[in-house]
Amino acid sequence: MQGVCPDEGIMKISVKVPATTANLGPGFDCLGMALPIYNTITIEETVLPGTGIEINVINDNATSDELLMEHLPMDENSIIYKAVELLYNSIGQTPSELKITVQSQIPIARGLGSSASVIVGGLLAANELLGHPADEVALLSIATEVEGHPDNVTPAIVGGLVLTSQEDDGSIIYKKLDWPEEWNITVCVPDYELSTEISRSVLPKEVPMSDAVFNAKRLAMFIQAVNSKDADLMKYALQDKLHQPYRMKLVPGLDKIMENLKHEENVLGCVLSGAGPSIIVISRKINLDKIKSIIKNTWEEMNVKVNIMTLPIENEGAQIINHE
Ligand code: HSE
Repeated sequence: MQGVCPDEGIMKISVKVPATTANLGPGFDCLGMALPIYNTITIEETVLPGTGIEINVINDNATSDELLMEHLPMDENSIIYKAVELLYNSIGQTPSELKITVQSQIPIARGLGSSASVIVGGLLAANELLGHPADEVALLSIATEVEGHPDNVTPAIVGGLVLTSQEDDGSIIYKKLDWPEEWNITVCVPDYELSTEISRSVLPKEVPMSDAVFNAKRLAMFIQAVNSKDADLMKYALQDKLHQPYRMKLVPGLDKIMENLKHEENVLGCVLSGAGPSIIVISRKINLDKIKSIIKNTWEEMNVKVNIMTLPIENEGAQIINHE
C-alpha cells in the first residue's frame, strides 16, 4: 500500500523550494542559481476515495489573486499536477486522492522560477509519499519535461549556481559552481508581469553564427571568471546576444538601466533574470545604494515601481520540511 504510513494513517509532506534566476546573461537555458525566497508545497493524502485532486494556493506575496490563478491553475492543467502525474505514471500508478497546497512567496511571472518551484515541490513531496521511487536523475528529468528547460528546475532541486544541460535522451547533466562570496546579487522586481511563454515566443528559431560564437565565448569566460573570482573577466562575460536583445521590447526600462549602470565601476553586469522582467545586477559589495537608486530612478521615470533586494545565493536546494 503505497503512500500510506502504516502507523499514522494519512501522510502529509511539505517541501520548501527556493526561487531561481536563470540564464545569468550568456547562459541561455543552461545557467541557473538558487535564491533565498521560498515557496512551500504540501501534498496530503485525503481520506475519502473519489475526492480527486484538490489544489489550493495561499498567497504570501504581493501578487494579485487573479495573476496567481492565471499562472498556477488549480485543476488538472496545473503544472504541479502534471509533474506529480508523470511521477506516478513512471511507476505505473495514477494519482487519485491528493490535496496539494502551495504557499507562495516567490513573485509570479517575474522571471524568478515560481513555476519551477511548484513543479519541484510537487515532485519531491510526491516522491516522498511514494517511498522514493525516483532518484535525483529521474526527478530532474521529469521536472525539465514539465518546465521545458532545465535552468530553473536544476538549481531549485540542487541549490547553488549550476551549469545544466538537457541531453537528447531527456537526461540532465549538471555541475555546481562556487559563487564568489565577494560578489553581490541584487534582484530588481518590477511591478509588471511577463509570462515565460510570451517571452520565449519573441525568440528566433535560428541566430547568426557570430551571435552564437559571441555567447559561447562569454559562457566560457563566465565559468572561468567564477572559478578564478576574476571581476574584470566577469564584466566581459555578463553579456548576451541570444535572448536579451529580442526581449528588450517586452521589458520596458531594461535598455536604460543597462546603459545607466554601464559606467559604474563596481557593477560587473546587469542581466535579465530568466525570461524577465526582473533584472539581476552583479556587483562588488560597495556603493550598493548608488546602484539601487540608479535602478529605482530609471524605472520610476517610466512609472514602474520596483522591489529591490540584495540577496545571498541559496546553496541548498529543495528541502522536505514537514513529514506527518
Ligand atoms: N531559460 C529560460 C528562458 C528561463 O530564458 O526562457 C525561463 O524561466
